[in-house]
Amino acid sequence: MEIFKGVHKKGNGLYTKGKNLEEWNPYKSKPAAAILLGLQNFPVKKGQKILYLGAAHGTTLSHFSNIVGDKGLIYGVEISAKIISNLVEKVKKKSNVVPLLEDARFPEKYGWIGNVDLIYEDIAQRDQVQILKRNKIFLKERGIIVITLKAKAIDSLKEVKEIYREAIKELSKDFEILEVLDLEPYEHDHLFIVGNMK
Ligand SMILES: C[S@@+](CC[C@H](N)C(=O)[O-])C[C@H]1O[C@@H](n2cnc3c(N)ncnc32)[C@H](O)[C@@H]1O
Repeated sequence: MEIFKGVHKKGNGLYTKGKNLEEWNPYKSKPAAAILLGLQNFPVKKGQKILYLGAAHGTTLSHFSNIVGDKGLIYGVEISAKIISNLVEKVKKKSNVVPLLEDARFPEKYGWIGNVDLIYEDIAQRDQVQILKRNKIFLKERGIIVITLKAKAIDSLKEVKEIYREAIKELSKDFEILEVLDLEPYEHDHLFIVGNMK
């Protein structure tokens, strides 16, 4: 059964379609977890241009690549040269992915990418909210943002709920928050937040 365009559910499993159906593991990929937890606003759509911050080895990014298809394009920003070499290998047959070895704190370094429909951020850093805000310059009008907020990376001592409250308050200054999901039991102390430009 296709539950969102390009996302299939068979039994308890989720899949996206590349050449074949590829299993989307909710323990390894936060959007898959969010979908299984009842996400309403699935942000990734065919033909989109996406800025993906914290691309890592491309586990999630390759599912996004399946969903956006040939007319879509994903810029995957990753700070680690070692990790990005795995990403490059993984996506070498995907014509719609451009890996970028950059620090997402400095969007001016990849300012040439132009406007995007969606910014997806999965970066476990203390300043993860500020990183997203810096990158909002790329968002089209009414463009969508997703941030997977890792509370313990922001502050390992403060109460998690307090970190969530402060982060949402900060994000709300720039974005209209559409949906907030706690990713338990797939990820501990993580929120999946979807919003759009105000
Ligand atoms: C949690 S992993 C991302 C997992 C990936 N999104 C997935 O689902 O397949 C976070 C990644 O962000 C990268 N990262 C950390 N700080 C960064 C920065 N300032 N700019 C870009 N990437 C960064 C890390 O090297 C790591 O690969």
